[in-house]
Amino acid sequence: MTGKKNLLFILLISGLFSACNKSDISFAEDVAPIIYDHCVSCHRDGGTAPFSLITYENVIRKKKTIAKVIKKGVMPPWPADPSYSHFVGENILSEEEKKTLLSWIDDGAPRGDPGRVPKLPEMDKLSAIGTPDFTVWMDSILVEGINRDKFLVVKIPFELPFDTFIRAIEFVPGEHNLVHHMNGHLLNYRDDLKSDVFDGTRVANVEQEYELYREDFFRLKLLQDDGSRPQRIHSAVNYLPGVIGVIYPEGIGGFSVNKKAALVANDLHYGPIAKDRWDHSHFNIFFTDRPPERPTMELMLGTNGVAPIIPKLQIPPDTILTCSTHFTIPEDVSILTINPHMHLLGRRFLAYAVSPDSDTIPLIRINDWDFRWQYFYTFKKMLKIPKGSTIWAFGTFDNTAGNPYNPNDPPETVSERYDFNGPGMRTTDEMFQFIITYLPYNKGDEDISLETEYHRKKTGN
Ligand code: HEC
Repeated sequence: MTGKKNLLFILLISGLFSACNKSDISFAEDVAPIIYDHCVSCHRDGGTAPFSLITYENVIRKKKTIAKVIKKGVMPPWPADPSYSHFVGENILSEEEKKTLLSWIDDGAPRGDPGRVPKLPEMDKLSAIGTPDFTVWMDSILVEGINRDKFLVVKIPFELPFDTFIRAIEFVPGEHNLVHHMNGHLLNYRDDLKSDVFDGTRVANVEQEYELYREDFFRLKLLQDDGSRPQRIHSAVNYLPGVIGVIYPEGIGGFSVNKKAALVANDLHYGPIAKDRWDHSHFNIFFTDRPPERPTMELMLGTNGVAPIIPKLQIPPDTILTCSTHFTIPEDVSILTINPHMHLLGRRFLAYAVSPDSDTIPLIRINDWDFRWQYFYTFKKMLKIPKGSTIWAFGTFDNTAGNPYNPNDPPETVSERYDFNGPGMRTTDEMFQFIITYLPYNKGDEDISLETEYHRKKTGN
């Protein structure tokens, strides 16, 4: 070899070497920013997830499972297909970010310079949507480890200095992986008709015999002193697995609240567990002194809703069934938030609107349904749906033994179950529901952003 060739050869080899050299991706500079952006909202002390991912030590201890969940695309949990529609708080790793995390793990997960770890994003421990004005706590509840669903009605009374208005209420479960579902009503009492909102028991068990249930229920003392009903605001706050609180721009949504009031966690549902555990959940209340200019409305399709399910939601064993439901809207509306809901046999969900001119307006597509993550998806801007459009929703249910979440082994017929309390809420029954929160359309709605301060701060916009 001549000297020149020799030099070229060395250059080539060193080039090759640096290409397959241990990469210089480090936790401090490359990995922590991704984890802080996409993971620590849940993976921190007191968060939804069972372990923290804040420190280098936290992360390397879990690096194998992290690689696994990233490859499978199950973390961060965001079931809605981003190639179909976008929502506030969308949390998805880009291909670039995935590559960075995976190469870092492959290359021995170096720490880098600890001084270069970015600042942890500010998070309010108790709320995902801001700093609440007022927090009310439910009594601590013992969930017995007897492998059975538990259904309760819980009263949370409170008294304010004067009548006012609420912009939003957020439910924060104490034990995120215990609470499956909660539908909360607000009761407004007339000052002169309710001497003591705190009177009565706090918790009623609704799984008992009907008569007993009534007696138990009666002890909550939800009525006013003369036996009349207080004003009731339905669905003042809802919770399903993975839900992050929703707060709309000032003037949109919200309701009035009286000086004497109570929240009622209706159908508070705890999943079956094997060991006794305590739950201590709370509600965050965000007040406003302005009456709601545009109260939101709710349209529910499917189970318990305005539109039937076709065919009937009854899934024979060893079958994959797709059901649909549709509804034609009589006026122009602006959609704010949507919530697809199914249980354990759900596999896929699709919803769109078809306008009178046959335009398809995509709403949501979930290609791989996961019972654990049922968000209320809020559009980034209000979405106009013109009068005469038909809203369609399709749900696919897999009642074969191949569905790892199938509650029955071997599979059995599963359907909606109605009881005295309405549609069966048991996880092992099925539901197919599409809930739409909307307003009658006003000109310019499509330009109103629904991103909250919290999300704007998070995305740096
Ligand atoms: C919305 C909340 C949330 C976010 C955001 C989130 N996780 Fe999780 N994660 C959870 C919960 C809850 C669990 C435990 C429940 C479960 O088993 O799925 C979990 C479980 C895990 C597990 C354990 C899985 C197993 O099979 O044991 C890993 C690893 C993980 N997450 C990594 C991540 C990473 C990495 C990110 C960010 C890229 C992330 N998570 C973002 C809530 C979240």
